[in-house]
Amino acid sequence: MKLVAGNSNRALAETIAAYLETPLTKAVVRRFADMEIFVEIQENVRGEDVFVVQSTSFPTNDHLMEVLIIIDALRRASAKRITAVLPYFGYARQDRKPGPRTPISAKLVANLITHAGADRVMTLDLHAGQIQGFFDIPTDNLYSAPVMVRDIKERFELNNTMVVSPDVGGVVRARALAKRIDAQLAIVDKRRERPGESEVMNVIGDVSGRSCILVDDIVDSGGTLVNAADALLARGAKEVHAYITHGVLSGGAVARITASKLKELVITDSIQPTEAVRVARNIRVLPIATLIGEAIARTAHEESVSSLFD
Ligand code: R5P
Repeated sequence: MKLVAGNSNRALAETIAAYLETPLTKAVVRRFADMEIFVEIQENVRGEDVFVVQSTSFPTNDHLMEVLIIIDALRRASAKRITAVLPYFGYARQDRKPGPRTPISAKLVANLITHAGADRVMTLDLHAGQIQGFFDIPTDNLYSAPVMVRDIKERFELNNTMVVSPDVGGVVRARALAKRIDAQLAIVDKRRERPGESEVMNVIGDVSGRSCILVDDIVDSGGTLVNAADALLARGAKEVHAYITHGVLSGGAVARITASKLKELVITDSIQPTEAVRVARNIRVLPIATLIGEAIARTAHEESVSSLFD
């Protein structure tokens, strides 16, 4: 097995490599003067089972192009099988046409990865499970739930805890987590008139006196989260925490969350945390490398990946 890392989340790739006791394959990914990307794999990969670790996070287009070029280099170097390991799959939120004459960019990105030469894809908490179907190659969608559930069980009194979906679209994800910790579920009715601006319309479920855990796949501007936390506290919640897989945290998101009434936001390191995230008073990062490393090991040995989530 060979592991190749792009530049988006080197720290995660190195921790995965340590878990697998497999050093990262020597490769250079650098820029020409005009910022075109150049890749050179500096070890023989002929006939190898290669896993390329790259989150297509900010700057999304650069990181996406980088992984496409790495895959192309590996294919031309006769790798036997190439798995694109995308802990964060950017463009996932553009998974349908929101209006006439708009793209389905998640499908376009799936096509690009496939046509570059990937044989398999592994990703984590896809924005919508059906994006798996955008790929015509085997695609494993891993779940961070076991990692989050372990953390929640260590910290919460579960009989007074309520899991909350911050919008109707996230109900399936939140319900799955609520089931794992045997907690009740509440739902925030969120509307989004414009991208990046959300407004809470209603809360479905009685949250008064409860410790609430908001569960979502992405925190981007933080608007959804902060508005949901305010709405829950206004309806008598004791405190509000959030467990969210991908800390996109664009623009002023970290400042917004630090200034909010949210007790704690827990994210994974699927996206490399910035310094601002690392020092934020109410943001904590859960490492995800063991889960991804184990899924890679099982894929390499042709063993069950789904049993990781039983
Ligand atoms: C949307 O459906 C996603 O699941 C997240 O709720 C959304 O991306 C969060 O965005 P923001 O933090 O900008 O409100």
